[in-house]
Amino acid sequence: MIVPGSTSQSLAAALAVETDRRVADVAYDRFPDGEQLAAVPGFDGDEAVVVCATVDDAAHLQLLQLQDACREAGAERITTVIPYMGYARQDDVFDIGQPISARAVARAISTGCDRVVLISPHEPAVADRFDVPVAVVDAAPLLAGALPSLADPLFLAPDAGAVEFADAVCDAYGHGETDHFEKTRHSGSEVSVDPHDTEAAGRDVVVVDDIVATGATMSAAIDGLDKPAQTVVACVHPVLVRNARSRLARAGVDAVHATDTVEQPCSTVTAAPVVADALE
Ligand code: R5P
Repeated sequence: MIVPGSTSQSLAAALAVETDRRVADVAYDRFPDGEQLAAVPGFDGDEAVVVCATVDDAAHLQLLQLQDACREAGAERITTVIPYMGYARQDDVFDIGQPISARAVARAISTGCDRVVLISPHEPAVADRFDVPVAVVDAAPLLAGALPSLADPLFLAPDAGAVEFADAVCDAYGHGETDHFEKTRHSGSEVSVDPHDTEAAGRDVVVVDDIVATGATMSAAIDGLDKPAQTVVACVHPVLVRNARSRLARAGVDAVHATDTVEQPCSTVTAAPVVADALE
């Protein structure tokens, strides 16, 4: 059975169709003191596929509860799909005294499952932080299917780390040119980018990144474009915190296309096909 977390309803439903599996009826409840209780009363079968984007602390805890509930209900094998893995960006110690948060959460999740599927993690090396086998799949190429008809498109990565995502979308789209900017991060919500030699004037530009969180990276990149014909944002994980969506609008973005690894109004592309491949 597919066992959805409350943060991954759409992806779990799409995955059930894609893999011809049933969806468990999960109850998401809370005690009067605020503690969560996620239960899977009707679980039956040998294998559970828990699908839960850990977009916040509550989702992390809910994922651990769902794994435990499935084991308690008799699941012999538990596969945990983490569509978007929270804390994965703290994948190292960047200042004295800091934790490797990605390792801490990966270890906790590993205690309750037999294998993990990660979708387009920010750093693929985060897979090594788990104590169970991990399959890493990339949903970026699926974004190409959502793009409109584009003339002479430029697929632009806002920083060097996003180049592989821009290349993947460009390849899947079938034609276009790729380039990237150089990013300097000044704080959690402020960045600056240095343009390359890219000629964007009059062109359809698709700015591609793995994550859009505060929108600082995207809006800085778009500010660096000289009079594009249209500007489209494509990302795998539309985290979109605070005023990110209006920040993109103010920057002149015409459309945002994203996958359902994080559920947002712009999550029109399902990542189910690549997860289904990993489950096979
Ligand atoms: C970092 O390198 C990631 O690829 C994204 O560029 C970053 O997480 C986006 O965050 P924000 O939207 O807050 O700039």
